[in-house]
Amino acid sequence: MAKVLKWFGIFIILLFAVILVIYIKGMMHLDSTWDVKGSITSVPSDSAIIERGHHLANINGCTDCHGSDLSGKVFLDIPPFLAVASNLTTGKGGVGLNYDDSGWDKAMRHGVKSDGTGMLVMPSKAFNNLSDKDAESIIAFIKSVPAVDNELPATEYRFLGTMLAGMGEINLADHIVTESTPKNAPEPDSTEVYGGYLANITCSYCHGQDFTGGPGEAPGETIPGLQTAMTWGFDGFEKLLRTGKRPDGTEVSEMMPWQTFSHFTNSEMKALYNYLQNYK
Ligand code: HEC
Ligand code: HEC
Repeated sequence: MAKVLKWFGIFIILLFAVILVIYIKGMMHLDSTWDVKGSITSVPSDSAIIERGHHLANINGCTDCHGSDLSGKVFLDIPPFLAVASNLTTGKGGVGLNYDDSGWDKAMRHGVKSDGTGMLVMPSKAFNNLSDKDAESIIAFIKSVPAVDNELPATEYRFLGTMLAGMGEINLADHIVTESTPKNAPEPDSTEVYGGYLANITCSYCHGQDFTGGPGEAPGETIPGLQTAMTWGFDGFEKLLRTGKRPDGTEVSEMMPWQTFSHFTNSEMKALYNYLQNYK
């Protein structure tokens, strides 16, 4: 009996030691800083650019996650972590004053915050495909938004989240792009060329590079391919992106951010549809 207790004691001590090691590894990962190269040093601020930036912020979900006035909100509160889409304005609780033009670019397209740490949830790797000009327009828009006082809790990794980071299940490097290459966008029109540009930024990070779907980020979640949708015709496709409803009337789950895509212009919808026809 005493022997069993002794082994049990050793087992418990070892277990705690393993948990501690994983936890510390997780903390170190979450506190890591990255050195990324942005390519934007100054942005224009004329009203046409700001207007274009506002539209781009809408179709890329900045205004969905960070709020239409960019004052931020709690995005996800689950056992591993609390993810807070920051208040991007210069008001109380806002991060606006921490960023210069290059800093905005590094956060948006490279996944690194002003303190050098990585980010949860923010789809920076997808945004890395934004052209320099479009990135500049979005930054011009953010800078034009009036200050809003909104003090939010900080993004927080709880015990489970820190353990997951220690085991490599949460890897902030997934969202980080360290290098920077100059990027151009095709002319905005309804052609498949422009559709490809849009789809790469707004659809691929969930539906996959070739739009065949795959496992989602949450356990057990699967993301469908877009092949079925390509048999619905343009009207059915557009209706789904504007209303979240399939042609048979069923609604897609809230994992599909159709509210963001309801901001696409008609021409952008056509461009996307024309491009996705290649993946039937
Ligand atoms: C799916 C939701 C989502 C979308 C879409 C999104 N963000 Fe974020 N964003 C977040 C979350 C959550 C954080 C906080 C991440 C963290 O602290 O780990 C964040 C952080 C940021 C930060 C860093 C702020 C800080 O605390 O220092 C910037 C800058 C930013 N987002 C800009 C943008 C811009 C610009 C867009 C659109 C191009 C955008 N975001 C789209 C969720 C989102
Ligand atoms: C944040 C992840 C995410 C992004 C980004 C995203 N989708 Fe989805 N989408 C989903 C999920 C998850 C579903 C499945 C919803 C369900 O099961 O009800 C879905 C479903 C769909 C469907 C319905 C498919 C079917 O056969 O029922 C279409 C069409 C679609 N998405 C198109 C798009 C297009 C086009 C884009 C880019 C403009 C896009 N999605 C971007 C997550 C995403």
